Amino acid sequence: MKILLIGANGEIGKILQPALAKNHEIISAGRTSGNFRIDLSDSNSIEKLFEEIKNIDACICVAGDCYTGDLLSLDEKKLNIGIENKLLGQINLVLIGQKYLNDNGSFTLTSGKMADKPVKNNISKAIVNGGINSFVLAASLELERGIRINAISPAKVSDIPIQDLINAYNKSVEGIINGEIIKVNY
Ligand SMILES: NC(=O)c1ccc[n+]([C@@H]2O[C@H](COP(=O)([O-])OP(=O)(O)OC[C@H]3O[C@@H](n4cnc5c(N)ncnc54)[C@H](OP(=O)(O)O)[C@@H]3O)[C@@H](O)[C@H]2O)c1
Repeated sequence: MKILLIGANGEIGKILQPALAKNHEIISAGRTSGNFRIDLSDSNSIEKLFEEIKNIDACICVAGDCYTGDLLSLDEKKLNIGIENKLLGQINLVLIGQKYLNDNGSFTLTSGKMADKPVKNNISKAIVNGGINSFVLAASLELERGIRINAISPAKVSDIPIQDLINAYNKSVEGIINGEIIKVNY
């Protein structure tokens, strides 16, 4: 498969890229690194990327920042970091990318444990991750041409056996599941 991996240079991306490259062609993308540049907070940048790369079978997103801090320190501006980059960024990736992906292709987004089991100082991640999961559940009902969508919701990556993380992304990309939130290690 031809796989677009957004955030390939991040902690998760660096684990996934070599693992997926054993069986697939990987096109890496990131804000400042990779084969192609993309800023998920900018719809034009997303559209440009899909115009440039043709015939993508699977789009995996392991990118997006969120503010970390307590409730008292949180304000609209800080909340918007995660909303614009991680939540709307991944949603826009699907809204735009659905027009370009090959028939029977797939989107695999990344949310995180804080959606279900938040700990203090992670309100922004809780909201953003929950939104991603809800989007995946709803969008999976409507994507056309056999295109599937799932979310991987990992616990802290340094606490996860690497193979469990790889298996979760593989299950979404190579399997037949649609509309699933795969919780890894919690
Ligand atoms: N690491 C964990 O323990 C963990 C656990 C659960 C969920 N998650 C989630 O998984 C995702 C990836 O985590 P990570 O730890 O691998 O992140 P990371 O190490 O911070 O790397 C993020 C990657 O995303 C890219 N990126 C950031 N903002 C972007 C934007 N606006 N547009 C395009 N690319 C952007 C960066 O690209 P450049 O390097 O090219 O600038 C970077 O390669 C995040 O959404 C995170 O919340 C992580």
